[in-house]
Amino acid sequence: MTKKLYIKTYGCQMNVYDTERMVDLMSYEGYAVTDQPDDADLVVLNTCHIREKAAEKVYSDIGRLRVLKTKKIKKGGKDSILAVGGCVAQAEGSEIQRRAPVVDMVFGPQTYHRLPEMTKEAHKAKSEGIRPQIVDTDLSVSEKFDSLSKQAVSQKKTAFLTVQEGCDKFCTYCVVPYTRGGEFSRSFEDVMKDAKKLDDAGVLEVTLLGQNVNAYHGMSAQGVEWTLANLIRHLAKETNFKRIRYTTSHPQDMTDDLIAVHGEIEQCMPYLHLPVQAGSDKIVKAMNRHHTIASYRKIIDDVRKMRSDIALSGDFIVGFPGETDADFQETMNLVREINYAQAYSFMYSARPGTPAADRDDQIEEHVKAERLAELQDELIRQQRAFNDTSVGKIMAVLLERTGKEAGQLVGRSPYMQAVHVNVGNRDMVEQNFDKLVDMKIISAGPRSLKGELISK
Ligand code: 5AD
Ligand code: SF4
Repeated sequence: MTKKLYIKTYGCQMNVYDTERMVDLMSYEGYAVTDQPDDADLVVLNTCHIREKAAEKVYSDIGRLRVLKTKKIKKGGKDSILAVGGCVAQAEGSEIQRRAPVVDMVFGPQTYHRLPEMTKEAHKAKSEGIRPQIVDTDLSVSEKFDSLSKQAVSQKKTAFLTVQEGCDKFCTYCVVPYTRGGEFSRSFEDVMKDAKKLDDAGVLEVTLLGQNVNAYHGMSAQGVEWTLANLIRHLAKETNFKRIRYTTSHPQDMTDDLIAVHGEIEQCMPYLHLPVQAGSDKIVKAMNRHHTIASYRKIIDDVRKMRSDIALSGDFIVGFPGETDADFQETMNLVREINYAQAYSFMYSARPGTPAADRDDQIEEHVKAERLAELQDELIRQQRAFNDTSVGKIMAVLLERTGKEAGQLVGRSPYMQAVHVNVGNRDMVEQNFDKLVDMKIISAGPRSLKGELISK
């Protein structure tokens, strides 16, 4: 009988990637995924520590799982293993088990390749009536990639490929340098080995991933340093990928050469996620962002010169310590000036151990909430306006999943918009699933588009 794995992912795309790898790893151990925690032999929470809310949610989820588990065992059901992975696990280590003794295993983002062994160990301990209490939060990265590279790849047409991990920038609000560790670029050969596997499996769209992906500087065996720009050029030439994306970037590492790639490489999609966080020089300096608002503006101008249709995305934090109304209005002005296709925005959340958390000029919650609402109103308006400009256009859409309605498929436009299409019957679904098809956009909503197939 197959065993069941329930895995919940919180946070960023790095975690989504890590979850996929864990699912692959455990499939070799005979585990199939279930969406019912009740049903599972192994429950994994792949957690995020970036904001307080995300971290606290983990503890409430653990509480709920504990209740479920107790009920199940009372009814004669079998015991399961509860594992907490990801960045909360890295940051808190065995503290999690002190606070929530029901947790059997704790492992960080750099040790999940050992999940099969840890699970076996936990099972063994349980069968001997011992509480497992396994903690593995080592931060060295290369062993993980070596181990993961041996795995086969899944059969999807879109794939993530991690080229870089961690961060040395130490923005004063951010836990990433502590939870994911320092900046690490995989070697050119290792990246290409994984790329080749994805290419051979027929992947059409690859997203190069890294917390600071445009800081990529992987070495080759010949001692040549590869930039992200050159890596994208090489992938465009040497693989059959039709679409190449990369995320997340930092303005400081947005070189002219990488900007040029947007004008030069057809496969490089017209979408750029480039967080600026705030619109005032005073605040970005206090955030230790290593760039100014003027330098960010210049990058956006240059990118738009290369690709006038590029969809811009970003991250914003409101209510950073010391942010005045006037500082916040500079953020609003910048947002109005740039005009985003979509963006993420957050209230500043003081994270223990980061420099900004110790400042004594923290902003009151209600002020943060008001600023966030004002900013989000504008960002939602911009996203809707961007979507409206798509109506009537013909776009290539990679239909990567089935929709909620029968006969419906959902894919992504080159600009990362979700596009829904009703293709009709089951045959048509099968015929178009996992295909890159030209579609006419017939209507736009705040978060997605509707399209129709163009008959050839
Ligand atoms: N509070 C609020 N938002 C944060 N981010 C990172 N750290 C914090 C924090 N302490 C946001 C940034 C980053 C995104 C992934 O999360 O905008 O780009
Ligand atoms: Fe965090 Fe700043 Fe590094 Fe991004 S660049 S991961 S916000 S420290």
